[in-house]
Amino acid sequence: MARVTFLGLGVMGYPMAGHLARAGHEVTVYNRTTSKAEKWAAEHGGRHAATPREAAQDAEIVFACVGNDDDLRGVCLGEDGAFAGMASGALFVDHTTVSAAVTRELAAEADAKGLGFVDAPVSGGQAGAENGQLSVMCGGAQEHFDRAEPVIDAYAKICRRLGESGAGQLAKMANQIAIAGLVQGLSESLAFAEKAGLDGRALVEVISQGAAGSWQMVNRHGTMLDDHFEHGFAVDWMRKDLGICLDAADELSVSLPVTALVDQFYKEVQQMGGGRWDTSSLIKRLRRN
Ligand SMILES: NC(=O)c1ccc[n+]([C@@H]2O[C@H](COP(=O)([O-])OP(=O)(O)OC[C@H]3O[C@@H](n4cnc5c(N)ncnc54)[C@H](OP(=O)(O)O)[C@@H]3O)[C@@H](O)[C@H]2O)c1
Repeated sequence: MARVTFLGLGVMGYPMAGHLARAGHEVTVYNRTTSKAEKWAAEHGGRHAATPREAAQDAEIVFACVGNDDDLRGVCLGEDGAFAGMASGALFVDHTTVSAAVTRELAAEADAKGLGFVDAPVSGGQAGAENGQLSVMCGGAQEHFDRAEPVIDAYAKICRRLGESGAGQLAKMANQIAIAGLVQGLSESLAFAEKAGLDGRALVEVISQGAAGSWQMVNRHGTMLDDHFEHGFAVDWMRKDLGICLDAADELSVSLPVTALVDQFYKEVQQMGGGRWDTSSLIKRLRRN
């Protein structure tokens, strides 16, 4: 069992840190909004600290799951950042979805301070975090991955190293590129079925077991049919992710026409007031017509 710290108790981080505590690890948490850290500590019996630096002291591994590149820099760097509190030889594992560039920047900073760094973005959504069934894509030195993997196991269905620093984030980009067109396709299918007078649930029961089946279809059709989107993976986060994908594609001279189009559709959902709606809310655009 390890002494660990978790920074960021959002939709994902709160249950992930809970799995670490349930697995028997000694967990200290930090959250920017202190009330969530207090609630977590009361529920799971761990400690909470006032700053990332204080939370990271004495930890063998410090995990983070915050919002974007700047949020990650905020919890890692500076006087109150985790890096300032971590003991030499400790490991930082980042579960936030961020750019490969910030990952390499922070991994180099960590290395200069004698710390390890593993980028480890996740897929599987809120349900995957709550059920401990996430897919975890890692980048970093093999020896650092080997230390992180048995602890990550508390909330992972699969955890794999895909290469050096940044490789986990590049894999997450490939994941988001695959999802973008798929969710639009599912939205078009269900909107079409509605107009055609089909029973959506009966339809999905059949087609989800054929070649069109997907995680999104199985896990999201019910709430899409009910027009319910106050859960899951926020559109604001998806636009952040697609921005990262499109920037990386530019650098690699790769063309992503469908991803770019769906990004614009998500912009419309934001303009409809749906920044915090789940990404399956793409169907709401189609229902306007
Ligand atoms: N939700 C999903 O289905 C899902 C799936 C895969 C990956 N992800 C990725 O996982 C990350 C977290 O997602 P989430 O859905 O858990 O987000 P969330 O519910 O919005 O939680 C974000 C967390 O980060 C903290 N935070 C944000 N900015 C911060 C800052 N500048 N300094 C310190 N703490 C800060 C927030 O603190 P406060 O409580 O104070 O706001 C909160 O604890 C994102 O990168 C997202 O893209 C999400």
